[in-house]
Amino acid sequence: MTSSANLHFVTLLGSLRSASLNAAIARSLPQLAPEGVSITALGSIADFPHYSQDVQDKEFPSAVIAMAEQIQAANGVIIVTPEYNYSVPGVLKNAIDWLSRITPQPFAGKPVAIQTASPGQIGGARAQYHLRQSLVFLDAFVLNKPEAMIRLAASKIDSQTLTLTDKPTREFLTRQIGALADLARRLQQ
Ligand code: FNR
Repeated sequence: MTSSANLHFVTLLGSLRSASLNAAIARSLPQLAPEGVSITALGSIADFPHYSQDVQDKEFPSAVIAMAEQIQAANGVIIVTPEYNYSVPGVLKNAIDWLSRITPQPFAGKPVAIQTASPGQIGGARAQYHLRQSLVFLDAFVLNKPEAMIRLAASKIDSQTLTLTDKPTREFLTRQIGALADLARRLQQ
């Protein structure tokens, strides 16, 4: 792929809540993608069972295989997640644990951006660093900057349409996706 080729990113959502702020962010990303980038959503991690090697030894769940294939085929992953108890929600960690057992391991060498949204003041910063730690082990290339920590997120999302309406945040996320595209293109060279 040349440096001017189009890129396709997929979003991995760390919340199962129907009115999720993070889902609203993820839902808005396709419209915020810069030129030359398309974005689609991966399936729900609610379809993954609790990780158990006994289950794995019998057969990988089809939802895990399907998501791993979508990640392998993508040029990058955008993880959009809440922070739970200063860390990564268990459901997201469970999904990453499942995906990490697939060969080829789908995050290896993959450009990844992290976005966290919280109604609080810190915007999920602490979850980001725990998530980065797991992604180091998985050999992903996690975008360093700009970091997307969306604080006071409830005030930036339309409660009717459940989409991101705050203009500065929309512009900022476009810049971050552009930085992920730059990283993906550099890694292809
Ligand atoms: C939270 N919340 C939260 N917020 C935060 O900024 N830091 C935190 O450590 C936590 N911890 C936490 C633990 C648990 C178990 C829950 C349920 C919630 C609040 C959280 O940010 C808020 O509920 C968000 O709205 C959750 O994200 P979604 O589901 O709206 O995307």
